[in-house]
Amino acid sequence: MGEPRTDPALVERLRADLETARYDVEHLADVLGPVAVAALERENALPATLAARASDDPAATLARLLTFGDPVPVAEAEAVLPTLGLEGAQRLGLVTTDGAVARGEVDVRPVEVGDRALWLASDPDSSTTGRPVAPDHVLGLGGASRTLAELTVREPAGRALDLGTGCGVQALLLADHAGTVVGTDVSARALAYARLNAALAGIDVDWRAGSLLEPVMGEVFDLVVSNPPFVISPRTGELATYTYRDGGRGGDDLLRELVTTVGDALAPGGLAQMLGNWEIRRGETWTERVRDWLDESGLDGWVVQREVLDPAHYAETWLRDGGLTPERDRATWEAAAEAWMADLAARDVEAVGFGYLVLRRPAADVGPRRHRLEELTGPVGPALGERVATALRVGDLLARLGEEAMLDLAPVVAPDVTEERHLRPGDPDPTVILLRQGAGFQRVVRADTLLAAVVGACDGELTLGQITGGVAAVLDLPVGDVRASVLPALRDLLVDGQLALTTP
Ligand SMILES: C[S@@+](CC[C@H](N)C(=O)[O-])C[C@H]1O[C@@H](n2cnc3c(N)ncnc32)[C@H](O)[C@@H]1O
Repeated sequence: MGEPRTDPALVERLRADLETARYDVEHLADVLGPVAVAALERENALPATLAARASDDPAATLARLLTFGDPVPVAEAEAVLPTLGLEGAQRLGLVTTDGAVARGEVDVRPVEVGDRALWLASDPDSSTTGRPVAPDHVLGLGGASRTLAELTVREPAGRALDLGTGCGVQALLLADHAGTVVGTDVSARALAYARLNAALAGIDVDWRAGSLLEPVMGEVFDLVVSNPPFVISPRTGELATYTYRDGGRGGDDLLRELVTTVGDALAPGGLAQMLGNWEIRRGETWTERVRDWLDESGLDGWVVQREVLDPAHYAETWLRDGGLTPERDRATWEAAAEAWMADLAARDVEAVGFGYLVLRRPAADVGPRRHRLEELTGPVGPALGERVATALRVGDLLARLGEEAMLDLAPVVAPDVTEERHLRPGDPDPTVILLRQGAGFQRVVRADTLLAAVVGACDGELTLGQITGGVAAVLDLPVGDVRASVLPALRDLLVDGQLALTTP
């Protein structure tokens, strides 16, 4: 497979043509219609291709050529690339032509991540080509890319690193809030795509080739993000290995290596955010395994397990992701799925966990590292990065203050929090009270009547000292007992944003 080339003058012309054609998410959705857009989300490009063929809008023709893998007559392709020309598109490695029709070699599509619009070039995926992807496939924007982008703390950062940049999407997003951005990848093809995408966006990134932290040895960053090749894959000769998801190590070794060494690249107070898979072996909990990595890292760690798949489901998921399905090729699929499950069984892996990792080098050495490992498998809202930032900031504040000083805080219940009371029919008192967060991690906290009473009185004016004193008086309980009972839970509610500090 080829790879795109980045000739700045030609890229400038390409950008002019994409802009003129309004080759953006909103306009394409208008042109193609909701049925086509919904089908595209299910990775069925046919309705969109048919809608685009029926349209004379230039954006539709560009989508046929550059996204849907649909051959376009040369004259039509020329017409929608008036500045770049078909020849220019060939020189950039985007299309080929046999004289009659032009075919896209590279997928160039408009995307929106949060409120950022970009064009992203990547290899066409198997839903476009109808074939399994190649071992050196370069991914476009996938579900995991979006998850990491949502999770990333978008606060001003001096130096930021995107490790395993692929088509460069995380690095391009980092450039919106970081002074300097370095993007690394072991794959030269990936970096060729990343360069093109940065040029198209007019963004400066320092691209470096190499494995894991090797290209940034001796340098430190305020923010490191990575959607690394974390997929646990069998190391048998018959199965294709894909650079985009398989770092070539056994089991979950690559993620362990990254977690335990990323501290070398973090400035004091620096944050690393990544996604990953870990093995859950017989006789060991996921928290034991991942906590060992965090301990070895020397960093503060916060890990959220979002999903757990059994070995059969894990193998199916990743075989399908590479375009290998039983419908396409039953014999190959069966052999591959068997090898995958045998590899996991050889290490007594009963399940594979997936989740988010947030690691931080404390600004000052404050004693033993603090780790938080939790399982949250329900839906989560957008902009999780804001929640991560709040949790870190408020956690630091409360660690500095200590429990006693919390009594001087006057928090307010966050606007997305509701209280649910569940009663047995006829009973006057609830048996279950839940504090439900509507946004972010969408946590549900079970509260006893004391905690519910205290939270209910948090109006941003009364201090926790006044509220707990009042509740103790009304219920005729020793105030010390009330405070001992509710303060640890109030701390968690503050960190997790169910209670907000008006004057932090
Ligand atoms: C899952 S893709 C992530 C792409 C992109 N950052 C995103 O979020 O969509 C993982 C990337 O890591 C790269 N990679 C694989 N092995 C690597 C290694 N040992 N060191 C650095 N990058 C590696 C792959 O080439 C691929 O581009």
